[in-house]
Amino acid sequence: MKLPKTFFNKISLLGAILSITALAIFAFLFILTYFFDVGGAYIGILMYMLLPVFLIIGLIFIPIGMIRTARKIAKDVNHDPMRWRVIDFNNPRTRVASVVFIFGTLLFLVLSAVGSYQAFHITESVEFCGTVCHTVMEPEHTTYQNSPHARVTCTECHVGEGAGWYVKSKLSGAYQVYSVLAEKYPKPIPTPVKHLRPARETCEQCHWPQKFYSSQLRYEKHFLADSGNTEWDIHLNMKIGAEHSAFVNQKGIHWHNNQNVKIEYIASDEKREVLPWIRYINLETGDTIVYENEWEPLEDSVKAVAEKRKMDCMDCHNRPSHKFLVPQLFIDNAIAGGQIPKELPEIKRVTMGILFSEQFNTKDTAMMVIENRISEFYKDNYPEIFAEKYNLIEAAIAGTQDGFSKNMFPEMKANWDAYPVHIGHLEYNGCFRCHDNNHVSSEGKRISKDCNMCHSILLQGEPCKSEVGKHNESLEFKHPVDIDEAWKEANCSECHRYLYF
Ligand code: HEC
Ligand code: HEC
Ligand code: HEC
Ligand code: HEC
Ligand code: HEC
Ligand code: HEC
Repeated sequence: MKLPKTFFNKISLLGAILSITALAIFAFLFILTYFFDVGGAYIGILMYMLLPVFLIIGLIFIPIGMIRTARKIAKDVNHDPMRWRVIDFNNPRTRVASVVFIFGTLLFLVLSAVGSYQAFHITESVEFCGTVCHTVMEPEHTTYQNSPHARVTCTECHVGEGAGWYVKSKLSGAYQVYSVLAEKYPKPIPTPVKHLRPARETCEQCHWPQKFYSSQLRYEKHFLADSGNTEWDIHLNMKIGAEHSAFVNQKGIHWHNNQNVKIEYIASDEKREVLPWIRYINLETGDTIVYENEWEPLEDSVKAVAEKRKMDCMDCHNRPSHKFLVPQLFIDNAIAGGQIPKELPEIKRVTMGILFSEQFNTKDTAMMVIENRISEFYKDNYPEIFAEKYNLIEAAIAGTQDGFSKNMFPEMKANWDAYPVHIGHLEYNGCFRCHDNNHVSSEGKRISKDCNMCHSILLQGEPCKSEVGKHNESLEFKHPVDIDEAWKEANCSECHRYLYF
């Protein structure tokens, strides 16, 4: 078993050592990951992206060295170096070389097929997208895991089907890797995503507009910032579609998606929170209505050149997977779920005071401040609780820290304020960006803010003392604390977005 003489030169030997080492490490890792179930995105990147590079460089070195030596030998015996070599299978060295070459090539082809398949899967995996650039993607990855889409992969929304978008995503991904390495990425990552694939080609693969529900019940629980953390319940029937599913989306909230409806708008800010101009076209009849904000109409010159965006799923469901909850909401949830004890007096007010007043730079300082300030508050104001029921205080600290970690990310400046949610109208204007009673057509028609148009309130108030409506009738909204008629005139978000500042 002898190899051709030309093989024995520094370059080819180095190449051979390089590829055999790469292959050996690969085989070792393969056994490790396959039989012992260890690994993850990092080992995957090593196995299917870095090792192959060394393998291929090594494999290229081998023939380069051999050709150089062959030419040198030819020159030494005065042969024309450009003359073709005769492949003589009677020479045992040639036979060994051919067998090594043929089987080597076959093995290489099989390995590259497996390798590229694996590399494809790794770069498409949630782990790769969500954890490799840990700090940068932490906010989106964490909120994703707590969303209804925790089992939908990142790429199903961000890339979707088809080779075109796959290539596009890998090209922009390459730039993103560069910007992470060079620390050039913006904080927070800007939203809305400019080149997001249209909802039609992503969301509608799983949620098709013909199959929406007619209504949905929402049971909300709030706790007021008073001494007893008074519970306040609200039950709503959301009118998602027409009363009966046979009418599909001819009425109700998903009417905006009706195939005969086209709604366009001009946004006057990056985040699309202010929409001064809205056009509704009935595609069946051709009727067109333009609604403009009567207080702040756009100049004609601006209207002529501004981008007119067609409304789709994302204009309401803009955070289906990365919802950064406002502090009052994640604290309410923690009290409702029992992580933060409701019997701890004033706990809602205390947590609000901390979460809204402090500007945290890192998660670690936030964890410390939360612990110290809650603990100090009870030490100073409720010494008997501090002495006898410290476990309640401990639970409240843990619950607040947990809520913070899942919704506020100081390192990336990602939180509820950076990423507004367009559904609803309590903390952000959401539906009230259009439905605020201030958008008027030239005939005086307004986009309605009628409290019973989108939902009916079925129950409201403190448990056991709550007001309950009749079937299919809506109660008149009662604001949990007395603010007179302010909720009728102002938009809810005017107080609720920064309620505790
Ligand atoms: C259910 C669909 C869906 C899934 C699954 C999903 N995203 Fe998103 N993602 C969106 C939408 C929609 C936006 C924002 C759209 C907008 O406002 O323009 C977004 C925005 C983002 C942004 C921009 C910053 C921001 O918060 O607006 C990043 C980064 C991101 N996603 C990363 C991820 C990662 C990483 C995963 C997987 C761990 C993932 N996404 C899974 C739908 C999804
Ligand atoms: C791969 C399939 C898939 C894709 C793509 C997808 N979803 Fe979903 N969606 C789901 C599943 C599964 C659920 C959970 C259903 C459940 O909880 O019963 C869900 C739930 C939802 C809900 C209900 C949430 C709740 O709180 O109950 C909304 C709203 C939603 N998706 C909107 C979207 C939007 C907007 C997009 C596009 C950005 C999208 N989905 C893309 C599969 C998908
Ligand atoms: C005008 C705003 C708006 C638009 C546009 C919109 N939705 Fe919704 N959607 C809502 C509201 C409001 C709810 C009720 C749930 C809630 O309050 O969060 C809802 C509920 C849902 C649900 C859960 C209930 C169900 O029927 O399964 C899904 C899924 C959903 N939407 C998907 C979509 C998709 C996909 C699109 C785009 C084709 C879309 N929505 C467009 C406002 C909207
Ligand atoms: C970009 C502007 C815009 C946004 C944002 C918007 N809507 Fe609308 N909506 C309209 C227009 C325009 C109409 C039609 C008004 C008319 O009758 O001329 C409408 C009509 C409706 C109707 C009545 C449909 C019917 O005929 O039964 C409902 C219900 C509704 N919207 C709910 C919502 C909800 C809920 C949200 C927030 C999740 C929302 N809308 C956000 C523009 C908007
Ligand atoms: C254009 C549609 C629309 C109109 C008009 C509207 N709402 Fe709502 N409202 C919503 C949606 C959508 C939600 C659910 C938000 C969510 O998914 O979290 C909501 C939620 C609520 C909630 C529950 C908030 C919570 O988190 O507990 C209350 C209370 C409420 N609305 C009161 C009102 C009152 C009062 C009015 C009249 C001034 C009104 N709504 C008008 C769409 C509307
Ligand atoms: C003038 C300011 C103001 C306006 C406008 C306003 N609210 Fe409030 N709201 C408050 C205050 C203050 C509280 C008490 C906060 C607490 O005790 O936790 C509150 C509490 C609430 C709560 C109890 C849960 C919580 O977040 O603490 C709900 C629900 C609520 N408001 C709904 C609404 C709705 C819906 C609208 C619009 C239709 C609205 N509010 C408009 C000031 C306002």
